[in-house]
Amino acid sequence: MLKGRNLISPDDLSIDEIYEIMALGQKIAKSPSDFSHTCDGKLLGTLFFEPSTRTRLSFEAAMERLGGSVIGFSEAASSSTSKGESLVDTIKTVGSYTDIIAMRHPKEGSSILAGEKTLVPLINAGDGGHYHPTQTLTDLLTIIESKGRFEGLTIGLCGDLKFGRTVHSLIKTMNKFKNNKFVLISPQELRVPKYVKQLAFTAESDNFVEVEKLDDVIGELDILYMTRVQKERFFNEADYVRLKDSYILNSKKMESAKKDMIVLHPLPRVNEIAVEVDDDPRAMYFKQVKYGMYARMALIMKLLGVEEC
Ligand code: NCD
Repeated sequence: MLKGRNLISPDDLSIDEIYEIMALGQKIAKSPSDFSHTCDGKLLGTLFFEPSTRTRLSFEAAMERLGGSVIGFSEAASSSTSKGESLVDTIKTVGSYTDIIAMRHPKEGSSILAGEKTLVPLINAGDGGHYHPTQTLTDLLTIIESKGRFEGLTIGLCGDLKFGRTVHSLIKTMNKFKNNKFVLISPQELRVPKYVKQLAFTAESDNFVEVEKLDDVIGELDILYMTRVQKERFFNEADYVRLKDSYILNSKKMESAKKDMIVLHPLPRVNEIAVEVDDDPRAMYFKQVKYGMYARMALIMKLLGVEEC
């Protein structure tokens, strides 16, 4: 039963619950207008203490497309945080006005704290370099729609695997399904942090490898998940400049990939995928944007416990 719950970490959802959300997401994707009154009269609060285009707008579009409404802010400077209000006080206040909250915050773990005190279901829309579970639901809906399964896949994750919260959430979730293999492609300095590996894998896990060169492995992949080097989380500008263009996926590289490999990217893209790849039928990242809205529509309905029509 998802009604009334928070979504803070990828672990908050069981496999069955993931399939339940996916089934609804697929129904919505088929016929979005069938759902246009399911959240009539409901209010979503979007509290974005950190910049966002897709996540915030897709939450807002999702709620509006379900017939509900949205209030919120898109930067900390325009909230009472700038006067010194604590996060918990802000969450309690907004929960008094709304039925459900989506929050993005630059501090790792902030959503755990907020989730303990919230008066209404709270969705973590990204907490620092930690987790981003609704991007994972977006990725999963794209995967199920294009590959038809969550099992037996070889998944390459490429780029900034250290600070990329979407990567952390996706690895953790996809490793719950059977027979998946992970190829972690990054420079040494941007490898998946130890704490994420410890949470996602066990000491005996032999289903992941860490490599530095995309060219060496691209031909083995069913899914290639490209990511941006997370400039805002670097402590040192020189390191960012040195690492920012470590990987650039172009049409030449795509020639070595399987004919049915899909390319995902949470976006925003900087340089890591050449624009020429956009026309390749295997490039799924703009379709993924749309699935993000459907996945969030499904999640909002489930957490609010509203009936399907
Ligand atoms: C991601 C994020 O914010 O972590 N973007 C998103 O939500 N679609 C990825 C990123 O910013 O690189």
